[in-house]
Amino acid sequence: MCGIIGYIGGENSAGKLATGLKNLEYRGYDSAGIALIEDGVDVYKQEGTIDDLRIPSAKAQLGIGHTRWSTHGKPTDENAHPHTDCTGDVAVVHNGIIANYQDLKAELPGHVFKSNTDTEVIPHLIEEQLTTGAELLPAVKRVLSRLEGSFAIAVAHAETDGIIVARQDSPLVVGHDVDEMYVGSDVTAFIDYTKRVSYLHDGDIAHITSDGFEVFNDGERVDRPVETVDWDASSAGKAGYDHYMHKEIHEQPNALRQALSGRIDTLAGEVDLDVSLEDEVFTQCEHVQVVACGTSYHAGLCAKRLIESVTDVPVTVTIASEYEVHDGFDPDTTIAIAITQSGETADTLAAIRTAIGYGMTTMAITNTVGSTVTREVDETVHINAGPEIGVAATKTFLSQVATATLFAVFLGRKRETITASEATTILESLRSLPSAVQEILDDERQIRKLAHEYADGDSFFFIGRKAGHAVALESALKLKEISYDHAEGFAAGELKHGPLALVTPRTPVMAILTEGTAPAETLNNVKEVESRGAPVIGLSSNGTAQSFCDHVIDVPEIGLLEPFAANVALQLFAYHVAKTKGRNIDKPRNLAKSVTVD
Ligand code: M6R
Repeated sequence: MCGIIGYIGGENSAGKLATGLKNLEYRGYDSAGIALIEDGVDVYKQEGTIDDLRIPSAKAQLGIGHTRWSTHGKPTDENAHPHTDCTGDVAVVHNGIIANYQDLKAELPGHVFKSNTDTEVIPHLIEEQLTTGAELLPAVKRVLSRLEGSFAIAVAHAETDGIIVARQDSPLVVGHDVDEMYVGSDVTAFIDYTKRVSYLHDGDIAHITSDGFEVFNDGERVDRPVETVDWDASSAGKAGYDHYMHKEIHEQPNALRQALSGRIDTLAGEVDLDVSLEDEVFTQCEHVQVVACGTSYHAGLCAKRLIESVTDVPVTVTIASEYEVHDGFDPDTTIAIAITQSGETADTLAAIRTAIGYGMTTMAITNTVGSTVTREVDETVHINAGPEIGVAATKTFLSQVATATLFAVFLGRKRETITASEATTILESLRSLPSAVQEILDDERQIRKLAHEYADGDSFFFIGRKAGHAVALESALKLKEISYDHAEGFAAGELKHGPLALVTPRTPVMAILTEGTAPAETLNNVKEVESRGAPVIGLSSNGTAQSFCDHVIDVPEIGLLEPFAANVALQLFAYHVAKTKGRNIDKPRNLAKSVTVD
């Protein structure tokens, strides 16, 4: 995930920006850069690590810097931030996605663009405003009103005092010191220098000078109080959380917004995935084959449910290491999709290469721009979750599911197997998912209490039907990975065919009872385990669990996608069980983030 740092005040802005960039390294990045304002704008940027970046010993008192994690355009020197306009007087760094950048670019004939990024359109739009005689602040305000998507930006200009910053769905924090001010995508960026911070809100635009800042929202001057953070520099990389996994669980509302940004038109019931494959590939498709491993395989099971519910296309999902191609299918009408957060998993690459060998159209749903899978398949859809450092996948799972939902609706609309209004219903549920997830996160105290109460169980069962089954499998994987306890996910109806023999009062059972999981049927299975003495935690959205379970976790009512909001509660449950046991949560024993061996 990209990082922003800005500084204004003393003469050592280059040094302060360099420290800020180093502190932002934990977010993951593939290129970095700074712009210093002294006699004009000097930009130093390149692909690679911050240590590779040649930072001069200039005496500039103002500068902005950036660590880039690619979304639009590969990691190259040209695509690194800051980006400038044609005059070279305006420099911009940006986090997030400008969804309508191509339309905006089309309005700028005569402007020379040097990168493939969405960001570069911003300095050029500002340049246009400045040529009409506008001051920098109103110029940036006008440009912001044209941008669609999620973003945080910092703008510096050769002849204007101060830094202009703005945020929309992407965090931005201002740091205060004596005659010095900072801006960062989080406090980490400047924690070495000050702990006094102001948090900007969505829609804020601020003018920062060395002696303070002014913030505006919706045309009105607003107050953003100065608070003191109590972190030390060593915990700052995790933004105050004890573990990356915990931080990444909490990043999910934002990660989801990024996955959806610029892709859905809820009113029209349309999805734009920006794919270049011919329409016939989708309209004539007779079979989808998904290949994936681990958590991504579980996302594949969710994708199957979603695609089959809105199209007439059968979907098979295969654990990548088990993938074989059988006779009796037509490669010309088959799309093989690799789901892989890293894009580097050896088993998944081997499977998708098999599909390529048979002549199928291939796609990837991945988090990693420029990864191996993206170079081999015909089409890639990025999930835009930002880097995930904890070995246990959390935010990438949910973003994969959100992206798979987009693909399902996209395919359904292309094949006309769903109407626009049916698509609208699904997209509304999808749009509600980030705030539903936030509500679950806000309920963490209850989930932590349950985790503490049941942490010493002999074994943990997760049960559900339909999408609830995929969530049960994923939740069990999460718990076993980080707590080292035995945990298993079951199709709820299967318990009576064997696993029920294991159920005792020491096997807590988590039951997924939300919309879209056939809760009435699963309640019969809840009764089966309860009569064997097992404590049951039910996750439901409309009180289904109230009278039948020992504990209830409420899931907000958002329709079809409720099981995926429930998944977040179970991520938190796994996290707190593991934390109680003092496990190495971010790097569980025997596991690696990216499994590049088969
Ligand atoms: O990078 P990928 O999505 O291809 O990785 C697949 C699995 O190795 C991965 O999901 C693994 O199961 C995670 N540790 C799960 O938390």
